[in-house]
Amino acid sequence: MSALISSLIGSIAGEILVPGDKSISHRALILGALAIGKTQITSLLESDDVLATATALRNLGVDILKSDDGTWSVFGRGVGGLSEPESVLDMGNSGTAARLLMGVMASHPFKTTFVGDKSLSMRPMERVMIPLRQMGGQFSSRSEGRLPITVTGSVTPVPISYELPVASAQVKSAILLAGLNTQGLTSVVEKEPTRDHSERMLSYFGANLSIEKSSKGENKISILGQPELTGNSIIVPGDFSSAAFIIVAALIVPSSNVKLKSIGLNPLRTGLLKTLQEMGGEIKIYNERFEGGEPVGDLEVSSSSLKGIVVPASRAPSMIDEYPILAVAAAFSLGETHLQGLGELRVKESDRLSAIAEGLSLAGVKVSEIEDSLLIKSTGKVTGGVTIKTSLDHRIAMAFLVLGMAAENPIIIDDSEMIDTSFPDFIALMNRMGASIKEISI
Ligand code: S3P
Repeated sequence: MSALISSLIGSIAGEILVPGDKSISHRALILGALAIGKTQITSLLESDDVLATATALRNLGVDILKSDDGTWSVFGRGVGGLSEPESVLDMGNSGTAARLLMGVMASHPFKTTFVGDKSLSMRPMERVMIPLRQMGGQFSSRSEGRLPITVTGSVTPVPISYELPVASAQVKSAILLAGLNTQGLTSVVEKEPTRDHSERMLSYFGANLSIEKSSKGENKISILGQPELTGNSIIVPGDFSSAAFIIVAALIVPSSNVKLKSIGLNPLRTGLLKTLQEMGGEIKIYNERFEGGEPVGDLEVSSSSLKGIVVPASRAPSMIDEYPILAVAAAFSLGETHLQGLGELRVKESDRLSAIAEGLSLAGVKVSEIEDSLLIKSTGKVTGGVTIKTSLDHRIAMAFLVLGMAAENPIIIDDSEMIDTSFPDFIALMNRMGASIKEISI
């Protein structure tokens, strides 16, 4: 365990590139593996989570190489072309890697066993196993549908039409990926739109995918099975969810100005932008463009006086990973901030709802956890001077380090190792911009 201390600073400044998007990086490797020919990936996120997907795919018979210029090449095996792994697939801390690959393996006719770390082994997997069983996959798991899980893929998978009971891009993607190697039309209906990177990338690789939008705002996504996908070139945009920590740091640390280049601005990911702007955050977007089927742009953020607002439940799917850092912004905002519809936060890398409430209240912020919502009341100042338990959760670790940058007294986090799962360069980058984040023994 390596503890870190983050102390009050005067300002942050810089022009930076944040590392590649985690969701898109996983999908680029997986679709590259299922295409025919070579897929070349530029700016792949080289974090522990994404490297777990690369290692798993190698175990399934795919050649994946990194060149000296930093680009990655995936030599695809074609849809249905993966081979039985010789060892278990270790997904580490990554829910996305585990759930998406469980979908892929449900329509490959052999046994694959998935394991993960302590955090991932606590997370619910029934949500993917229920639809994948209907498609013919067989699963044996630890009690309550937890990892380790062995999937026996179906020889003759059957297409389904499935209505998602929870807003989850991971479950949606698992079904679409299983549907890739299933004859016929597999459909997923989502009542609340979630990130659509799988849909965009499947179409980009040549899959026959269609989306029907109903007047009620529902999406029905259908994929026609057993297409031939063609290897492609992908430039991974900067991860908005990683940029979020820098955006909030620039807003709450006085006299700051930061420019962030080439950030993914998929509207199903950027609920935080809208929210922070409503709170009074000065964030400019410019140079908007498309790269590899995804919207991208540059951002400029300056310190701002923030005010509390109500963030409705309907916005949660477009900012599901951003609540820890939004809660930090709320802690420095004048008045009340009410974050609603946070039930899904309980099943992330940790119970984030409790972790945010406990951490903020330790740091001297008035916060109440009311069912699935958080009410944060602030005078705009935070006392700090406490140690936060990160519970194997990278976003809790990074959010509280940002809190320390503007709190009256330093914040210590008990463990920083998990930051490598999504943002390996976080500490160095923050310190280059003016942060004071140092190792400490506790
Ligand atoms: C992800 C989807 C989200 C998100 C996760 C990445 C993805 O999870 O929290 O960090 O890449 O599909 P859910 O779809 O389970 O909400």
